[in-house]
Amino acid sequence: MRGAALNRREADPDEQDSPAAATEFAGAMLQALSGRPRTIAPKFFYDRHGVSLFERICQLDEYYLTRAEMAALREHAPSIGRLIGPRADLVEFGAGSPVKARIVLDALPSPARYIPVDLSVEHLDGAKQDLERAYPGMVVEPLQADFARALALPAQRPGDGRRVGLFLGSTIGNLSPEQARCFLADAAERLAGGGLLVGVDLVKDPDLLHRAYNDTLGVTAAFNRNLLVRANRELGADFDPASFDHYAFYRPDAQRIEMHLVSKRRQTVHVCGTAFEFDEGESLHTEDSYKYTIGGFCDLARRAGFAPGPVWCDRQRLFSVHWLAAPPVHGSAVAGR
Ligand code: AVI
Repeated sequence: MRGAALNRREADPDEQDSPAAATEFAGAMLQALSGRPRTIAPKFFYDRHGVSLFERICQLDEYYLTRAEMAALREHAPSIGRLIGPRADLVEFGAGSPVKARIVLDALPSPARYIPVDLSVEHLDGAKQDLERAYPGMVVEPLQADFARALALPAQRPGDGRRVGLFLGSTIGNLSPEQARCFLADAAERLAGGGLLVGVDLVKDPDLLHRAYNDTLGVTAAFNRNLLVRANRELGADFDPASFDHYAFYRPDAQRIEMHLVSKRRQTVHVCGTAFEFDEGESLHTEDSYKYTIGGFCDLARRAGFAPGPVWCDRQRLFSVHWLAAPPVHGSAVAGR
């Protein structure tokens, strides 16, 4: 599958995401290169090639996050299923591949609907048929959208159980704590009467964290540099990706991994016809990946209007999955919908 996705990209190098996505990427890149420090949002990693590189990262020995989260979900699936209850209306924010959602779906009594929200059409296309076949009676309504934006979710349907959000994979870690609080506050309103299941990577030994973002095969480095490859293809830029080092390090003071592309030499690059200078050692900051303590994340969720509930971890306590109960539906007596 992964190979197939890579080959498709290689066979058609001009293939692009939608024109709106390309325009947004152009604006973000020009703004990043014009500013100081130079910073761009990590969502621009995920063109088709970036999605495929990220899937490879998830299988790396060093990248414990995916395995640990799946272990926590599998081990605690019965408790999670009991909490969510029958005929659930599941919304997955930043869905990606539905592998983890399926662990949750398998534990649910007759789920009614699954709404995967993702920017990548590739992810969404595959999901509908397979899932509807695997879960008879469940409707799949994919939504191609940026989960961080105001979303028009389909209305809740009479007869369905609770509306429950899934926000897995430590995607919340790629938001700043303030962005995360805003996302959660918005989710608390949308999920009123239900709840949110969030996967959160935990603060841990900095060496383990360092290895997860500096794998020996160089897949994370390729994922990082793919941003420049994408700019060359979609924006007619002339980056030499090999002249930028992948630089990822843990900052204990901020509880985050920072990922940068650092220029190996003084150079000029052109993006959308504009020239930008890079000094030797100058960086483009491409991603933050925040790590939380369990208490720290519960505090954040509380400040966003959720009532934190059970927290499930893998046996090594590398990763946590939190149940956050949303406030009751406004003005309604339907408790615990
Ligand atoms: C998607 N996200 C949670 C990943 C992370 O760990 O922050 C993205 C990633 N960046 C480098 N490796 C993986």
